[in-house]
Amino acid sequence: MNIRQENEGDFGAIYALVKKAFETAAMSQGDEQDYVDHIRSGDTYIPELSLVAEKDGHIVGHIMLASTKVRGGNRTHDFLVLAILSVAEEHRRGGLGSALVYVALDRARRMGHRAIFLAGNRDYYSRFGFIPASRYGISFKEDVPAELIDNIMALELVPGSLEGISGIVDL
Ligand SMILES: CC(C)(COP(=O)(O)OP(=O)(O)OC[C@H]1O[C@@H](n2cnc3c(N)ncnc32)[C@H](O)[C@@H]1OP(=O)(O)O)[C@@H](O)C(=O)NCCC(=O)NCCS
Repeated sequence: MNIRQENEGDFGAIYALVKKAFETAAMSQGDEQDYVDHIRSGDTYIPELSLVAEKDGHIVGHIMLASTKVRGGNRTHDFLVLAILSVAEEHRRGGLGSALVYVALDRARRMGHRAIFLAGNRDYYSRFGFIPASRYGISFKEDVPAELIDNIMALELVPGSLEGISGIVDL
């Protein structure tokens, strides 16, 4: 298994992978594959933090971290969002999803990023140290149903980086 940065030649295979992966996801809007393309065409795209897992020449996993902002008062803070994570169904439950998350977080830390947010399953992401973002005084633009509020999560890549920061995160 090889984890590396995505490149243009991968984009078609990634589109197909994400589309298929989310057909079996616990929560899906059905357009996650377009969301990946949307991020790539915008200014939050960070090529070094969009990674693929390759096995026998095939792309079997993908993760995309992008930049985001927390806006509070008259201050804006730059952070990351884990935008999307996908593993091909036949390669799941073998640690591939976790490997992609750990490699991406490690790269992000080494690039100097300080914290990362996501909207996702809290049982899954708590294993990497993510906790509900509301515990840091972070809130959200849209109305999030009460039962999903703890699914908006945060992880400090640099300890203490979210202390004293409050505001609204763009997700
Ligand atoms: C979520 C996903 C990336 C995990 O990939 P993976 O390679 O199976 O991940 P790992 O092998 O590292 O971890 C598997 C573990 O995660 C758990 N898990 C997988 N999806 C989960 C979910 N939605 N909620 C809670 N736990 C989940 C599995 O039960 C398994 O638990 P175990 O380790 O106790 O057996 C993969 O299932 C997938 O692509 N799903 C569809 C797309 C999706 O939902 N992505 C966003 C996740 S919020």
